Amino acid sequence: MSAHTKPTPASAKKVRVHHLAAAKERGEKITMLTAYDAVTAALLDASGVDLLLVGDSIGNVMHGHTTTLPVTVDDMIPPARAVASVAKRALVVVDLPFGSYEAGPEQALATGVRMMKETGVAAVKLEGGTRVAAQIRALTDAGIPVVAHLGFTPQSEHALGGHRVQGRGDQAAEVLADDALAVQEAGAIAVVLEMVPVDVAARITEILRIPTIGIGAGAQCDGQVLVWTDMAGMTDWTPRFAKRYAELGRALQQAAEDYVAEVKKGRFPDDAHSFLE
Ligand code: KIV
Repeated sequence: MSAHTKPTPASAKKVRVHHLAAAKERGEKITMLTAYDAVTAALLDASGVDLLLVGDSIGNVMHGHTTTLPVTVDDMIPPARAVASVAKRALVVVDLPFGSYEAGPEQALATGVRMMKETGVAAVKLEGGTRVAAQIRALTDAGIPVVAHLGFTPQSEHALGGHRVQGRGDQAAEVLADDALAVQEAGAIAVVLEMVPVDVAARITEILRIPTIGIGAGAQCDGQVLVWTDMAGMTDWTPRFAKRYAELGRALQQAAEDYVAEVKKGRFPDDAHSFLE
């Protein structure tokens, strides 16, 4: 890591599963960002973020797919291992990708065990409510902490008719609340709520003991999560619910343009960047 970055101090206290429930009780907001590689994860960890999610959004963000559906367990393991290997403070969570847990508790357990053995993460995340409660129970009973994901669940985007707000209307809000209670009952340690109306997310946050972590679900969730490339302004387009805290994409392109220009003009490498003897 270069001198202008501040690594996580060795004394930093590791975030553990029980800290999440304690934060909810204290009314302290929980923060989560995605990470897909060691360099970025080290920087984000040093920011003091509580959780790093090795999301299957790696499919869209890093691998050039248009959905998360093609992502495999084999795709997730190297980035999860990289992030877990540098995260000194943040609790690292990895997504179980589409097709790796839906068949039932046995499949979910086999995938969860493989993730824990081969990556060093502290928890897994999966999408769905009542329909995956048995999977969450099996993982939890085996000692694998599970974060659930409700609302807009990208692995089901075709069934949901695209990127649409979920839980609108009394009946849909009721189903969402029942799903949230089901994943809590099954042992989930937290639940991500994606693209859910503010009042519905607030109500779910109120009725759950476990923390809600919102993305496009308003300020009343117990915590917030963003995809790091959205948060840092790496690309031209950002979803409406994501705030750009920097314009790193522009800065990176400018740095590359300066490098190309200096090499073309023979200005790089200069003596300071050469071995003169
Ligand atoms: O994969 C991912 O990045 C996610 C977040 C959007 C919560 O699931």
